[in-house]
Amino acid sequence: MSKPIEHLREHWGSRFGFMLAAAGSAIGLGSLWKFPYVAGDHGGGAFVLVYLLATLFICVPLFICELVMGRATQRGAVEAFSILSRQSQNWKGMGWLALTSTLVVYSYYAVVSGWTLNYVILSLSNFTAGKSPEEIRAVFDLLLKAGGMNLFWQFGFLLLTAAVVWGGVRKGIEHWAKILTPALLAILIALFFYAITMPGFHEALRFLLIPDFSKVTPSGILSAVGLSFFTASLGFGIILTYGSYLRPDENLPSMTVAILGSTLGIALIAALTIFPIVFSFGFSPSEGPGLVFKVLPVLFSQLPAPLLISTLFFLLLVFTALTSTVSLLENMTANCIEQFQWSRKKSIVLSTLAAFMLGVPSALAGSGQLFPSWQPIYNADFFATISTLWDRWFLPLSGLLISIFVGYVMDRQLRDKEFLGSSKASYLLPGWLFLIRYVVPIVLILLILEGTNLVSFDALIHN
Ligand code: PHE
Repeated sequence: MSKPIEHLREHWGSRFGFMLAAAGSAIGLGSLWKFPYVAGDHGGGAFVLVYLLATLFICVPLFICELVMGRATQRGAVEAFSILSRQSQNWKGMGWLALTSTLVVYSYYAVVSGWTLNYVILSLSNFTAGKSPEEIRAVFDLLLKAGGMNLFWQFGFLLLTAAVVWGGVRKGIEHWAKILTPALLAILIALFFYAITMPGFHEALRFLLIPDFSKVTPSGILSAVGLSFFTASLGFGIILTYGSYLRPDENLPSMTVAILGSTLGIALIAALTIFPIVFSFGFSPSEGPGLVFKVLPVLFSQLPAPLLISTLFFLLLVFTALTSTVSLLENMTANCIEQFQWSRKKSIVLSTLAAFMLGVPSALAGSGQLFPSWQPIYNADFFATISTLWDRWFLPLSGLLISIFVGYVMDRQLRDKEFLGSSKASYLLPGWLFLIRYVVPIVLILLILEGTNLVSFDALIHN
């Protein structure tokens, strides 16, 4: 007879280790790459304020929902939904949706992560030396078109991730989180102190911290909600899986606030590091996705010690991306072990291969080598098409279903017991329930409606 799974289940070695791993999942390209340019696009301070509110009232409650489900069942998403719904096939399907999202997002997140590795190597070779700003910016466009190169770095990043997850929860994920997360913090803080000395620092502070409410639009608000949701790694069952390795006496709400609070802090420090450089050189804050890969190398090339600063910066991106891809792969691995009774190693190998194969069209999207007519048909390349589908439809939908499940379907006693854990803070419970039953579902429905272009709230308001 096979042993019951709970006897085999590994637990985190320490609370701090768990928090570093969860924060590592949350702190990723969302905070360092997307947050600065989306905040720049939406006018700075007002966006930051809305992002803060969204983290507090949407992400914190949902994050607790995932932890509650994982710890209550000690399983990954598919089994957790099945057990807690008393074997409802529909709810189990929700678990599969979360897992599918993990695979899809992993496949293209690894492509962007691969670019960060590529830029570390480029920086080490001092690639900006003797190049004009136009030539430096063109390097990124060249990379996008180089299909084989994208595949190479994507595969490299997948292997790096697999190497970390290979060791298991404590010896792999937790061990590396304890190294990588503090390392990324150290690099970020070093760069931040450097940014403080730049002439554009005050302008950056003003831009990011003083809200200009005339810049607040419904679509801006919803994009802040969407980004904060993605940054918190919600809707994948990742936090659920990480929660399943927690011991019963941990206090979930306070850990959540600490994890998401530090994630928010990092995003702000990242923006306060990047914008002073942008302003000091007179660039526009709304540079779009090329901000990190195109604009920053130009700026680095004009600073003293470009080799050092540029290498450190892209190494920082590699570390943040790696702690996030690790959580994606672990989520797939944990669910494969439970669903198919595969060994951990087999689950890692097959999940990595699946992510690689699904990622091929994303890696080749810029080169047009595969599906050459994709762009004219869908008006976006393969990469943009699926990332938009997931950002706008499937992840918010998962979040919506998770909040409804924990708010209305899951056994009340079990839910409340997990929420409280060892803490006596029962006064927090009604507030949490109110948020996950009403506020989170309503906001996520609005997000889905706007994100999918079913309704334009900007247009409604102007009518
Ligand atoms: N939270 C990560 C980021 O902000 C993205 C991510 C989502 C990573 C889901 C893993 C899983 O970049």
